[in-house]
Amino acid sequence: MNLPARAGILGIGASIPEKVLTNAELSRMVDTNDEWILSRTGIRERRILGEGELLADHAAESCRRALDNAGLKTSDVDLILACTYTADRQCPSLACDIHRRLGPEIGMAGALDINAACSGFLYGMHLADKLIRTGAHRHILIVAAEAQSRFVDFTDRATCILFGDGASAIVMGPVTDGSDSGVYSTCVGADGSGSEQIRMVCDSPVDPSLPQARNNGTPNLRMNGREVFKFAVRIFIQALDEALTAASITSADVDLLIPHQANLRIIEAGAARLSLPPERMIVNIDKYGNTASVTIPLGMMDLLEDGRLTKGKTLALVAFGAGYTYGSAIVKW
Ligand code: ACO
Repeated sequence: MNLPARAGILGIGASIPEKVLTNAELSRMVDTNDEWILSRTGIRERRILGEGELLADHAAESCRRALDNAGLKTSDVDLILACTYTADRQCPSLACDIHRRLGPEIGMAGALDINAACSGFLYGMHLADKLIRTGAHRHILIVAAEAQSRFVDFTDRATCILFGDGASAIVMGPVTDGSDSGVYSTCVGADGSGSEQIRMVCDSPVDPSLPQARNNGTPNLRMNGREVFKFAVRIFIQALDEALTAASITSADVDLLIPHQANLRIIEAGAARLSLPPERMIVNIDKYGNTASVTIPLGMMDLLEDGRLTKGKTLALVAFGAGYTYGSAIVKW
């Protein structure tokens, strides 16, 4: 069997809600202000889903746009990996809700969700890369989608200022154009000792000993920001090192670094430790806030749209999130 040497990103698309939630609006909801949010996080505004708006619609639209961008048809897809921890519903999976929206042309393509919180997209890429290189699948949609505004407690100023909603998808497939583009390494990991630091909780449980689903309340996202901050700064460098080593390159070879957009101060601390010039580091947290698994493909989208992501550029991707989980990748565009 002739197996592809490399898998690559063949197309990309995004779909974000129109509704904007600004720092000024948040400061009318909780005791906060624009100056605090901007200086502590780098966020100016975020997008959130409107009443009745479904995450699956944005996720499916981002898939259609990614397929268009790749010049592929829905019938070319043989697997959908939906990366989310905030799907519209728990069962069926978001991936199956997307499958339905893509119509009969999708055929019997497989569909499953991946929950690795903010690292989800890189877990998706990690799996897709291996599935394509072993020949098990040919064209895989990896769609990151989050509806975090549904799980944020808008009376908790420590979390509600951070998170936003949206969806972004890529299509991965074998590199067949003879170029040296494609995925050169992917790494994932987890540290379960941090599992209580970012978690969904029911604040008024019927019975605290029962699992969340039996407690009849909407779970809210809670976070120990200071602990997560320390983990994030440490793992940023470690995860990136793993991907660089696996790809046999150094940070000097990286043209553009897209870090998970959790907090501008975490990104700046990472850049300083890597001695990376600021213009190589992608920051769009000011526009979207922390969109969890969506931040990295949304960063690629922004780079493509402003003309900075051109053929031959070497990208480094790094993410960390609840779990704790982390992921990293090196991709040549
Ligand atoms: N407005 C005004 N004041 C605030 C706000 C707010 N929104 N939030 C907290 N404060 C106050 C605190 O009460 C505290 O006051 P005190 O000193 O009187 O006690 C003070 O500001 C400082 O609070 P800290 O929590 O120390 O603030 P910090 O500088 O750490 O910033 C933040 C908080 C932004 C949450 C930061 O810790 C952070 O970004 N952590 C990492 C988050 C992250 O990476 N998440 C990614 C994973 S998310 C996922 O996977 C789903």
